[in-house]
Amino acid sequence: MDWKDAVSEIITQPGSRIRFREPLAKHTHFGIGGEATAYIEISTVSELAALARFHKQWDVPVAIIGRGSNLLVSDTGFKGISIRLVGALAKLEVDGKVVSVGAGLSLPKLSKTMSRGGLSGVEFAFGIPGSVGGALIMNAGAWGSNFGDVVRNVTVMNDTGELITLTHDEARFEYRHSGLDAYFCVTGATLELEPGDADAITAQMQAFYKQKVETQPFAEENAGCMFKNPPGDSAGRLIDISGLKGYRIGGAEVSTVHGNFILNIDNATAEDVLKLVAYIQAQVREKTGVSLQTEVKRLGFDAKGE
Ligand code: EPU
Repeated sequence: MDWKDAVSEIITQPGSRIRFREPLAKHTHFGIGGEATAYIEISTVSELAALARFHKQWDVPVAIIGRGSNLLVSDTGFKGISIRLVGALAKLEVDGKVVSVGAGLSLPKLSKTMSRGGLSGVEFAFGIPGSVGGALIMNAGAWGSNFGDVVRNVTVMNDTGELITLTHDEARFEYRHSGLDAYFCVTGATLELEPGDADAITAQMQAFYKQKVETQPFAEENAGCMFKNPPGDSAGRLIDISGLKGYRIGGAEVSTVHGNFILNIDNATAEDVLKLVAYIQAQVREKTGVSLQTEVKRLGFDAKGE
């Protein structure tokens, strides 16, 4: 049996769907990238567990792409299965100040719902267009807060389809990093938030959003900050003082608003973006002595297209 037939048999629940030869450009905020062999929206834990076992048995690459907000997909695409978690895997349940979230839930939706319900701790996340799963794995953050700070525990799935609950410490949150990518999939988390006044929490959330709109680009397609900040400094500032704002290769350009954003201004290819990344790294190293490391995740770039 072909693996495509085998995987199709797993996706049976309403709310889940599978498509083949799916252009990933339309599932990423960069708007860049070739096709995935298969693309699955998966809505139940049981289907996800079956997929984990399928992955182990057939050795077909699987990538959870979340909401594609921090992702650069290669121009030749991904020879494997890309997955987005929806339905029960994007749930949001509130019990007092303890909130259970599915990995597929969007951060802006979480932030907005919590502010309305008078729970504080995720106001910073309103302007981050990613998923809870991505925010957990990368410990997403802004304005002095990081997602890991509000996490009590995390649920992950291993490659036999078993769910495992990890404590906050076992998740090993660091700056824009965690130990969670060692598992087949992050399925959700329990958050502990701080009860407060809904109006004040909403005002704080909106103030952060205003700050983002004023200091970061938002009209053009991009993947958020391209580089991690080096300790004690801002990659955007270093790119700025290296004179690179507005520098363009092909359809990719360094934002003139914030130096750490690369914009897809005119049908940029992944190759344009990577050439610009290499140019920025070389120039910043030469002018400031700092080696910038990328923050944006990549998919489909190794020899096998994985
Ligand atoms: N700056 C410049 N020129 C620029 C950009 C920044 O001089 O082109 C200066 C700013 O004026 C400020 C300092 O650098 O004095 C820091 O800038 P900013 O407040 O914008 O913060 P950042 O360190 O550049 C980080 C995160 C952002 C997050 C903001 C706001 C990283 C890599 N970046 O940026 O996160 O939104 O703080 O808290 O950690 C992301 O991770 O994708 C991201 C966008």
